[in-house]
Amino acid sequence: MRPAVAWTGEAIEIIDQTLLPTEERVIRLRTVDDVVDAIQRLAVRGAPAIGVAGALGVLLTGGDRAAAERIAAARPTAVNLRWAVERVLASEDWTAEALAILAEDVEACRAIGAHGRAELAGASRILTVCNAGRLATAGIGTALAVVYAKAEAGERVEVFACETRPLLQGARLTAWELADAGIPVTVLPDGAAPALLARGAIDAVIVGCDRVAANGDVANKIGTYALAIAAHHHGVPFYVAGPRSTLDAATPTGAEIEIEQRDGGEVRAIAGLDVTTAVWNPAFDVTPAALITGLITDAGVLRAPFGPAIAGVL
Ligand code: MRU
Repeated sequence: MRPAVAWTGEAIEIIDQTLLPTEERVIRLRTVDDVVDAIQRLAVRGAPAIGVAGALGVLLTGGDRAAAERIAAARPTAVNLRWAVERVLASEDWTAEALAILAEDVEACRAIGAHGRAELAGASRILTVCNAGRLATAGIGTALAVVYAKAEAGERVEVFACETRPLLQGARLTAWELADAGIPVTVLPDGAAPALLARGAIDAVIVGCDRVAANGDVANKIGTYALAIAAHHHGVPFYVAGPRSTLDAATPTGAEIEIEQRDGGEVRAIAGLDVTTAVWNPAFDVTPAALITGLITDAGVLRAPFGPAIAGVL
């Protein structure tokens, strides 16, 4: 698989994720408008990947700070985006800094995989939601990095992927990239996850994250909170994987995380039906730290109390 996001020297190259799995089309983002549009329509998506795209996007601004702010504000929930844009703007050499952010993300993914593999040595049946894999980062992913590390080490591993309504990142993207890697994957309707946990069919839940507040509350794809509650009820460990760039010391708790609301049209069109009522379409939800077994970061696995653990690696 090609990298989800790369720099050609004059443009950002991404796989247009809105077309997967039907078509694997690579597109080039040459202007700030291209970058903002690609981030907003989820052609490039996943917190680390939009952070890298945002960092590289600054190189297309021609020094225009207002244009850089448009990129930083393209989506509100994943802290990586603003973090990356501001880091490039504050640096002496924008190109070097943006490329460093990309390289650090590749390395962070590798480290997350290694730490997660050591932590979850006995777990082979993994439940996840959305896509926190190669398509969501510049490297091998976060939640799925653990899966790839296991597979690479010759350990038995299989993934159960929640389809992730309404945009189907699980059914379209996680299933596609795992199949591409030869890793067994089973897609399930989001509502089936508690029943799967109840059957004892899952050893661990591993999800990605868009922002981790200072107290360990986690914003991630809508449906994550329901998975955490169900895992807790059934005594299944619930892990969140993410790089340190997703930890946000400036946001005290999950209550202060801005949750992106997306167009109701994403929900209205279901299997040929057109629902005409009002729609509530939050892209993310917040899982309280109390439901999280561990945060698998590139700096190691953090455990409760998460406040000091997070402060200790930033
Ligand atoms: O709306 P998306 O597809 O960008 O949402 C992505 C997620 O929720 C991921 O789990 C998160 O960004 C982590 S990706 C390594």
